[in-house]
Amino acid sequence: MTTKSSLSEKLRKQVETEGSLSVEQWMAACLADPDDGYYMTRDPFGRSGDFITAPEISQMFGELLGLWSAVMWQSMGAPAEVRLVELGPGRGTLMADALRAANSLPSFIDAVSVHMVETSPVLKVSQQNKLANARCSVDWHDSLETVPDGPMIVLANEFLDALPVQQWIFHNGQWFQRMVGHDGEAFVFAIGDPVDPEDVPYFLSGAAEGAIFETSPVVSRVIETLARRLHTDIGAALLIDYGHTKRGAGETLQALKGHQFADPLQNPGEQDLTAHVDFAYVAEIAKRAGAGVWGPLPQGALLERMGIAARATRLLLNASKQQAEDIATARHRLVDDGAMGRLFKAVALTHPELAAPPGFEGSLAD
Ligand SMILES: C[S@@+](CC[C@H](N)C(=O)[O-])C[C@H]1O[C@@H](n2cnc3c(N)ncnc32)[C@H](O)[C@@H]1O
Repeated sequence: MTTKSSLSEKLRKQVETEGSLSVEQWMAACLADPDDGYYMTRDPFGRSGDFITAPEISQMFGELLGLWSAVMWQSMGAPAEVRLVELGPGRGTLMADALRAANSLPSFIDAVSVHMVETSPVLKVSQQNKLANARCSVDWHDSLETVPDGPMIVLANEFLDALPVQQWIFHNGQWFQRMVGHDGEAFVFAIGDPVDPEDVPYFLSGAAEGAIFETSPVVSRVIETLARRLHTDIGAALLIDYGHTKRGAGETLQALKGHQFADPLQNPGEQDLTAHVDFAYVAEIAKRAGAGVWGPLPQGALLERMGIAARATRLLLNASKQQAEDIATARHRLVDDGAMGRLFKAVALTHPELAAPPGFEGSLAD
């Protein structure tokens, strides 16, 4: 591994010799450069890290997703073998909690093989430690493509927001690709090639000067692959992330360092970069590829429908005073509109003939 500032130096040289990078190339290098990319070099979670995610806030989150998976498996006809796949599994906490909860349905656990899709070598080690005592087989993959064919249930929390986006900027009556250059002192945004007007979607006509629009070919590819798999081999996916439900202009690329917002063009590889998920586009691609699409629903509403209140009550039975306070705080953080409950949304993709997944009753997307 090279020194701390080497990614900055490497990207500066690349800009000097090859010209500016697209925002997508910038984000991909900052997060996934094999030597110095953010996720390649660290465990970013928790108080001493840069951010915290729902499974790290409370075991209830992973447990409810585990029960969701078990019920989904039953409504798939309880196949003798099912792949339980997690995309971007972080520390492995969600899967460990999910498997513990799903133990209440032993026939499900007997059918399960776990497949973790993870690119970070550091996080893979955490996941291996967390799942060392799992009662089913656990395999790791660099991408969904190598997960073997067959019935599958896919879970992904805050995975799509970590995938690179392209940005487009409206300038002098025309859309251009937004780039990252270097002005001799620092990385700066720059304007690239114009977009063919034929390729500009209808909802972007009449944009204001400086408006920004984001797209993600990587997200599109993942959703297309997933939806095709769920259509060919029976299955379902539950994707939870922060994002918007209507398409439109708006910049959402953001950096987090030490739980504070930061400049996304500073400290490449040293801070988290994310972009909000365009759920309307996710739904459109999934439908086009043949999947049933349910939601999106606010995370808070889904967790309530899944029974987070009953789960919390159960945990409170054996809790100390401090633990009881922690359970109540965590529950509010996950479900309240002012916390994660509304900003985070959940969409379920299914084989088109499957009934509504648990919590998504009456929410089949048109
Ligand atoms: C924001 S973290 C979310 C972790 C976990 N799901 C949670 O909720 O705590 C993003 C995760 O996606 C992984 N990741 C990022 N890009 C990936 C990719 N292209 N393929 C697979 N995993 C990826 C990261 O290493 C990390 O595990």
